Amino acid sequence: MLEFLLVIAIVYIVIIIYFHYQYPELHWDWEKINIQKIKFSNSFFWGTATASHQVEGNCNNNNWSVWEKSKDEEGIPRIKNNQKSGLACDHWNRYKEDIELIKKIGVTHYRFSLEWSKIEPIKGQYNQESIDHYSNIIDSLIEKNITPVITLHHFTNPIWFDEMGGFEKEQNIDYFVSFCEIVFSKYSSRVKNWCTINEPEVYSVMGYFAAIFPPGKKQPQLAVEVLKNLLIAHTNVYNSLKNLPNGENCKIGIVKNIMQFDPYRRWNLLDWLVCRIADKIYNGITLSYLRNGRININYPFFVKINYKSDKAQLATDFFGLNYYSHSHLKFKFDLYEFFENKFFDSDTMTDMPYVIYPEGLYRAIKEVEKINKPIIITENGIADSKDDRRGLFIERYIYAMNRAIQEGANIQGYFYWSLMDNFEWAEGYDMQFGLYEVDFKTQKRTLRNGSNKFVDIVNGSK
Ligand code: BGC
Repeated sequence: MLEFLLVIAIVYIVIIIYFHYQYPELHWDWEKINIQKIKFSNSFFWGTATASHQVEGNCNNNNWSVWEKSKDEEGIPRIKNNQKSGLACDHWNRYKEDIELIKKIGVTHYRFSLEWSKIEPIKGQYNQESIDHYSNIIDSLIEKNITPVITLHHFTNPIWFDEMGGFEKEQNIDYFVSFCEIVFSKYSSRVKNWCTINEPEVYSVMGYFAAIFPPGKKQPQLAVEVLKNLLIAHTNVYNSLKNLPNGENCKIGIVKNIMQFDPYRRWNLLDWLVCRIADKIYNGITLSYLRNGRININYPFFVKINYKSDKAQLATDFFGLNYYSHSHLKFKFDLYEFFENKFFDSDTMTDMPYVIYPEGLYRAIKEVEKINKPIIITENGIADSKDDRRGLFIERYIYAMNRAIQEGANIQGYFYWSLMDNFEWAEGYDMQFGLYEVDFKTQKRTLRNGSNKFVDIVNGSK
């Protein structure tokens, strides 16, 4: 018996040692780092980003507008304090003024999304006014020498599409592809950079596992099916746009959020186990799909999916990387939510439940380099209403990115999230990511002090 226990103990220790070295949690000594020394090549570009539902206002015909009015089973409103996106930043009407603000900080690229529900409010019927609206934004950007970067899908669906089952059904993908073809044919002579789908893993995990985003389901199996369908949608959109006029001259890529899952207790095998599962679902599915067209997951009683596409491999011109932070997971005895997110006293928190962890951006870059595609940092930013950590966040994350570039990473540009405070999904307006602070009563925008760090880097790093 004693021998048996001894063998178990040795095996346990060997596995822990293996994990420990295989998945190190990187930490740099910031006291010894000279951030002032960073330089970027002339071809490196700087930008800032937004998404339609978060800034435009009056997005009344999409899944989020329905969600904002709804309550959960216990009668609690879906959005914090029952907030609604409403007029948001009124970017729909104020885009010219906002383009001036983009120009003022010295960036050369603006990433924004098209609101599908405004362009195709009814299945198959396109709204000319909305098509013209985005066309005017594109012209205004180009006039100011700012390169437009369009996101085709950023979390929102028209209501009619959701009523058909949205991305739960593989056969619905064609509707999204048709919408993409229409807008691409309108804008691609002027817009050369296209993001297909923003964060498919966030859309599926938040909507179908955590139930924090619409449709608020808690069905892990459906979550991975939806993720698979979004990845297929990316591939189908990529292939069909490439075959349209201008397709070959445009860069079309997917945008993925990377989050590392590190064990709360590095000696605890169960913490390691939940981290490996979370990583495999959240990061692994998309990375494996892009690498070899395969999705193979089999966690008995939880999720199972085996899929092989022959079209997926390499079907992206760039990898759009969104990075915010990592998570420390602790195993929990609960059949559904078998882990919890934990923090250490030493963590420097942002206003979101994210720690400031610039080393994670470096780790994420190393991970996605394996896809072998040019990388664009399509989002990175901090919610910091007091504006007392934004400057530090900006300089350290940009330092981490620069370090990866010095070591050979092919990163072409960086977008700060976000241009201005906006509707932060389930958190409403409480989370303030903006370079510009927005007073939502007067719609006045004011550049934050901490944002000057970004302005200085953008204007002085070449
Ligand atoms: C999303 C943004 C969001 C940001 C901050 C990303 O996951 O693409 O829409 O505002 O994170 O939470």
